[in-house]
Amino acid sequence: RRRHGYDEAAAFARDRDRGRGAATGPSEAEEHARVLFCLGGPGAGKGTQCARLEHEFGWAHVSAGELLRAARAGGSEESRVIADCLDRGAIVPVAVTLRLLRRAIDEATRRGAPVVVVDGFPRNADNVEGWEADAATKGLDVRGVLFYDVPHDVLLQRIAVRGASGERDDDDAETARRRIRVYEEATRPIVDLYARRGALLSVRGEGDVEEVWRLTKEALAPLVGAQEE
Ligand code: ADP
Ligand code: C5P
Ligand code: MG
Repeated sequence: RRRHGYDEAAAFARDRDRGRGAATGPSEAEEHARVLFCLGGPGAGKGTQCARLEHEFGWAHVSAGELLRAARAGGSEESRVIADCLDRGAIVPVAVTLRLLRRAIDEATRRGAPVVVVDGFPRNADNVEGWEADAATKGLDVRGVLFYDVPHDVLLQRIAVRGASGERDDDDAETARRRIRVYEEATRPIVDLYARRGALLSVRGEGDVEEVWRLTKEALAPLVGAQEE
């Protein structure tokens, strides 16, 4: 793992740990946790790049979509709501998503992750409002939004490749088009909101995985004080 130039990520963790007693509870542990949201169209490459942030920087990757897919199984009313939304490519009510995210962020923080990357959230206005109204996320320090900008035709191509592997039920052509529509209507305004707040770290995501990784590190430089050699 290459750490050079990312000392500030370690400093994040030291700040967080400073002044923390031995018997620190989860809410206190969460207090100064650094969060980076990650957005982009379906198939933009969020999961792929977040996995690299996890392996190469030791950051935690928490994917809202993966948490929801894991929670769709089971006979509860909530599982049925999740399954119905996933099948339609619709956005799950924030109370449900937030409960899953809170637990995963808390776990990552307790493991000592210097930054928790929350992938696929906030996806719409309901997600933003839910996050901002939640007392449990108040202490989390949201550093910005890592945004992957990829044209629709490339998104559809990538989803078709992933769909062929049978990895996911929502990668068929019709649901993919619907998810892109939901992305344009519900998620783009959220991307614009963070841009207006000066919190958007934008990456051109059309290139191959290595190229996008290089651009990702470049985009993150102001955040982590990266000085790649
Ligand atoms: P997201 O999490 O944004 O939906 P993924 O990381 O799952 O996107 O990527 C979608 C599909 O495209 C996967 O099959 C992945 O292997 C592939 N992929 C990811 N990044 C690239 C890239 N830069 N070039 C080509 N294919 C990619
Ligand atoms: O991000 P990902 O492509 O894995 O998301 C898959 C699906 O999970 C979305 O199409 C949507 O149905 C659901 N989702 C959601 N709310 C989020 C993130 C994902 O409802 N914040
Ligand atoms: Mg993903």
